[in-house]
Amino acid sequence: GRIALLGAPIEVGASRRGALMGPAGLRTAGLTRVLEELGYTVEDHGDILPRDLTPVDGPAPENARFYPEIAAWMRALSARAYELARTGATPIFLGGDHSLSMGSVNGVARHWQEQGRKLFVLWLDAHADFNMPAISPSGNMHGMSSAFLCGEAGLDDLLGTEPRASITPAQLSLFGIRSVDPLEKAAVKARGVDVADMRAIDEHGVGVLIRQVIEKVRAANGVLHVSFDVDFIDPPLAPGVGTTVPGGATYREAHLVMELLHDSGLVRSMDIVELNPFLDDRGQTARLAVELAGSLFGQQITDRQTPSNAIG
Ligand code: ARG
Ligand code: MN
Ligand code: MN
Ligand code: MN
Repeated sequence: GRIALLGAPIEVGASRRGALMGPAGLRTAGLTRVLEELGYTVEDHGDILPRDLTPVDGPAPENARFYPEIAAWMRALSARAYELARTGATPIFLGGDHSLSMGSVNGVARHWQEQGRKLFVLWLDAHADFNMPAISPSGNMHGMSSAFLCGEAGLDDLLGTEPRASITPAQLSLFGIRSVDPLEKAAVKARGVDVADMRAIDEHGVGVLIRQVIEKVRAANGVLHVSFDVDFIDPPLAPGVGTTVPGGATYREAHLVMELLHDSGLVRSMDIVELNPFLDDRGQTARLAVELAGSLFGQQITDRQTPSNAIG
């Protein structure tokens, strides 16, 4: 198979600076080498650069910080994501903060819509990112991306002339969340978004819950995009993120999620976002993120796959 890497060093969607070093951190930690060792042909398309962006002017919505910059990034990203998906490669988008997904997922969703396949999105994250300008307590746009993708109103002109390919809340699965703002919580509930929060993971384990997501995708003959916010992982293991929240996924929980997703054969694209090398501890978080990408793309402890019918 072919994997296409595309970096988007965007950081103004987050409250803390430094995520712009994320793509470099992931490359330094050996992302290409790990994927090549698994047998893939890896095309690194480099980074989208600020000087490549078309400036966005005109009125900006209130309470959407750095809206013009982020709109410019998302228009470029959506167009590039659509093109990459069309080549038949599996794109991995390297962030950058989580606002990135408003562009990457929109572009790949547009491609799959044209193929008549539904795109499902697995959001591995401490946060729901289901705010919109009307309800966000911070105005930070990395907290708005999953809501935007579900067609929530308030950032309607964000993509300009780029076609908007919204998913339904039923196509989104929030997984690992443990920090949700009050109005955001109400919105997630009202829209009926599929949620496996950390309490559910504690009670049932990631194996059961990930298989439920896989079954949902399979039943709809869909394909899956994995949007991996590194703050999904427990902070002592992954300190290199701007918004740590205690009580995250353990080392093995995170690997098992990725291993089961690989075995499903449904994953067609991925984001790795929110890595902040400025806050990292000797590359620990970057290395873990790369290891987890390895598991998502087929790294196994032994050659034995867990039978998929082991838990129904
Ligand atoms: N819920 C908070 C906000 O909207 C934090 C969002 C953090 N998002 C992230 N992608 N790390 O400001
Ligand atoms: Mn996030
Ligand atoms: Mn997060
Ligand atoms: Mn636990």
